Amino acid sequence: MTSTHHPVFARVYARLAKADLARGGAEHRVELLEGLAGRVIEVGCGHGPNFAFYPSAVSELVAVEPEPYLWAKAMKAAERAPLNATVVEGTADRLPGAGYDAGVASLVLCSVPDQDEALAELFRVIKPGGELRYYEHVRATDERLARIQRTLDRTIWPFVGGGCHCSRDTAAAIERAGFVLDRHQSFMFTTCPLDRMVAPHILGRALRP
Ligand SMILES: C[S@@+](CC[C@H](N)C(=O)[O-])C[C@H]1O[C@@H](n2cnc3c(N)ncnc32)[C@H](O)[C@@H]1O
Repeated sequence: MTSTHHPVFARVYARLAKADLARGGAEHRVELLEGLAGRVIEVGCGHGPNFAFYPSAVSELVAVEPEPYLWAKAMKAAERAPLNATVVEGTADRLPGAGYDAGVASLVLCSVPDQDEALAELFRVIKPGGELRYYEHVRATDERLARIQRTLDRTIWPFVGGGCHCSRDTAAAIERAGFVLDRHQSFMFTTCPLDRMVAPHILGRALRP
């Protein structure tokens, strides 16, 4: 599989993401990418909302995106960004190249069909001594909210959210893949009352031994 087909979600997401950036998302993305250098691979880059925030020390960015509408938008964003970026059509379970200094997963491990497979692939392509940067919405620690998240995941959420799941324990999956959490923060982040279900977020850096 190299592509996905969520045309409605793709269009809605590209619009909503603008509001997200304006309401605090931009700061999270700066923090996500701060200090990166060398060759970097980003999985599920969407329409490229991170591109403007990569530090100049990043010499090459390979950005992988499976949804055709977002992929085309990411190509344009890459042309505008002050960055040596290539946008490739593909999925997280089969990434191009290897030996990257870092991998970036930004609001995507909620959407891949199999987190373990995607993280094993990131582990493979990031070089030993490299790092994974992550910014993801995750399972709530509050049991009542977690229960609602599980119910949504079994019913409508993946259908309306382009394959998204709101109850994944992504930090545990990152560790299970062999990465070592180095800097890790959990926080609540909402931009409107409708996104309360995906308010719990994690942001950080995990080392690839
Ligand atoms: C919520 S959007 C996030 C986009 C962007 N990374 C961001 O930070 O805003 C989820 C992204 O995951 C992508 N995606 C879904 N399934 C994927 C897969 N199997 N492999 C890679 N990316 C995938 C979607 O096409 C979409 O671009």
